[in-house]
Amino acid sequence: MKKNDTIGIGIIGSGGIGRHYINIFKKVKGARVVAAADVHPQALAEAQKLEPSITCYPHYRDLLKRKDIDAVAVCTPNKLHYQPTLDALASGRPVIVEKPMAMNARDAAAMCAAARKAKRLLMIGFQWRFTPAAQFMRKAIVRGDLGKILYVRCQALRRRGIPSWGVFGRKDIQGGGPMIDIGVHILEMAHYVIGRPTPIAADGSCYTYLGNKKPAAKCSWGVWDHKTYTVEDLAVGFLRFDTGTSLTIESSFAAHIEKDVWNVQIMGEKGGALLDPPTIFKDDMGYMFNNTPAFLGDGDSFQYKLQHFVDCISDGVACDAPGEDGLVVQKMLDSIYASSTAGKSVSIR
Ligand SMILES: NC(=O)c1ccc[n+]([C@@H]2O[C@H](COP(=O)([O-])OP(=O)(O)OC[C@H]3O[C@@H](n4cnc5c(N)ncnc54)[C@H](O)[C@@H]3O)[C@@H](O)[C@H]2O)c1
Repeated sequence: MKKNDTIGIGIIGSGGIGRHYINIFKKVKGARVVAAADVHPQALAEAQKLEPSITCYPHYRDLLKRKDIDAVAVCTPNKLHYQPTLDALASGRPVIVEKPMAMNARDAAAMCAAARKAKRLLMIGFQWRFTPAAQFMRKAIVRGDLGKILYVRCQALRRRGIPSWGVFGRKDIQGGGPMIDIGVHILEMAHYVIGRPTPIAADGSCYTYLGNKKPAAKCSWGVWDHKTYTVEDLAVGFLRFDTGTSLTIESSFAAHIEKDVWNVQIMGEKGGALLDPPTIFKDDMGYMFNNTPAFLGDGDSFQYKLQHFVDCISDGVACDAPGEDGLVVQKMLDSIYASSTAGKSVSIR
């Protein structure tokens, strides 16, 4: 691709996130969405309302036949990430695929292998690592301010946030519940921030106790389909890394807690860090300091990630959310689920 060319983007899956991509790509420099594919005509009609110039296809393979598509975004439900990604890569297009990259690490590894074979970029739609708060923590760690990282606590907890749309309650299509759907966000960010160490073992427990029953309390997320609900409501995991670092993750669609929590806390030998509010904890001049930046920068995390995707393709920038990162995250998720099923620790290979 020549520098300064505008990249033509094809979106596969124009549901909630696919349409969000259409909106965000309008703000991304060097790219424009030219086509969308979806099996549901209504989803395509809504996509076209957002961007009347796009051409819509009921089958993504027809979208891939277009010559003006330089890159593809896969925004289908989790189970349907695999084949469109393989097909788009085989057609010579770089791909950004939404999180989690696959249903399991076996498929994720095959997707990475396909990208290597096609010599094309495979980026994972991990936007949290691009946020100013995550970059702030990362900079402190890279500079050595925290010293050796000992322990990381990740929380992606909703009190009552079971999606009432889509297929988020279906294990056969999504691969799991809150751990794979929202835990993945906090885990990808934390893992990136601490320098992407290699996970070696996991413990996990998953519980289903509310989602598979008629809602007993009002909530702002609406009424979900409890009859098809087969995923966990609450999942907790404990991971060990080859660096000696340990990490816990708590994730829920539904839990009896005061309020939703979205945070990462990092404890190192020389200092600590918190995602929200963004803070570095250090000892200095004989005092304990809580250092919070007055201004971190702002901007939309999706815009950061989609701009990065385009910059990787157009300017050869090294990808900060490559398929290999998605594969490691997927191994951690798989292992937490596997440990829960086995009722014991599992090793991660
Ligand atoms: N990065 C984020 O913050 C974020 C947020 C929400 C969802 N997601 C991810 O985005 C993906 C989609 O989620 P969503 O909320 O948009 O779901 P959604 O159900 O709103 O949309 C998915 C769309 O894919 C379409 N689809 C299904 N099979 C298809 C096929 N074979 N070919 C083409 N289209 C097909 C569906 O008809 C639907 O319109 C999921 O993997 C989800 O985890 C990411």
